[in-house]
Amino acid sequence: MVQEHQQLLKWYKVHGRHALPWRNTQNLYHVYLSEIMLQQTQVNRVRDEYYPQFLEKFPSLDALANAPLDDVLSAWSGLGYYRRAKNLHNCAKECNGVLPQREAELLKLSGIGRYTASAICCFGLSQSIPVVDTNIARVLKRYFALLDQTDKTIWQYATKFVNDKDPRHHNLALMDLGSLVCLPKNPKCGACPLKENCQGKEEPQLYTQTKKKVYIAMELYFGVLIKEGKIALQLSDDNMYKDMLVLPKVEPLEEKLIAKFKHSYTKYRLDVHLYEVEEISGEIIWIDLDKFDSAPISSLTKKIKVMV
Ligand code: ADE
Repeated sequence: MVQEHQQLLKWYKVHGRHALPWRNTQNLYHVYLSEIMLQQTQVNRVRDEYYPQFLEKFPSLDALANAPLDDVLSAWSGLGYYRRAKNLHNCAKECNGVLPQREAELLKLSGIGRYTASAICCFGLSQSIPVVDTNIARVLKRYFALLDQTDKTIWQYATKFVNDKDPRHHNLALMDLGSLVCLPKNPKCGACPLKENCQGKEEPQLYTQTKKKVYIAMELYFGVLIKEGKIALQLSDDNMYKDMLVLPKVEPLEEKLIAKFKHSYTKYRLDVHLYEVEEISGEIIWIDLDKFDSAPISSLTKKIKVMV
């Protein structure tokens, strides 16, 4: 395997995404934060719009632990999957601002699963352990022609393939190979440093058949009540936007319709209807429309500002 390891590292040296800020730090909190943000958000958006801004607001895990949840959710506003922000906040408190340096200890913390724990230990501490995300999994499935694609098997192959001499660059290289060359559709096999011994190269599609995505269509009806430059919001109690401020849900009132628009959020394809209302049942939190951007609200709620 020595030859493949060398070829992979050589490729990484030339083609790897070395400038990503979380690849140029020894700070475990920075590595951890990047991994949580990158779980469901594109690299460029995290790098440009969220990671630096979040670190400026919460420069240490300790600062994060001591911040109110609302401030953390506000900094996460627009990133979606808000449970990630809550877990981050809980985790900061659970570990008293200092992340443990062993995978088994990290796994006990809120929101840290096998991928995140191994990424922290390998990328942050250069530990010789496997890391498997969707990109690395695709490379391994093809390279080893895996028809048994259970997590257990993929992690076993990842373990077997780790380069103990330079595990950090090895795993980063596999990640970049999956993201830049070993693409889900039309992989660029000609440009792959592992092509010689790749057992899946004749039929790459055979090893990466993905399940069809299932989307859920929903109609949402919200009431809009504005008084003296403030808008009435409520604390969400559904899973989609738990702990965020949302517009109050109402029954449809077609004669009071203000606007209708479509919005995509995770697996949901939403048809949103806004109605003018004069009262709202339940507890109201009044938010200054001028301060909308710094409140713990989602992109869906932010869209409303331009319509009212
Ligand atoms: N570098 C380290 N972890 C990464 C990730 N999850 N996505 C992209 N680049 C990374």
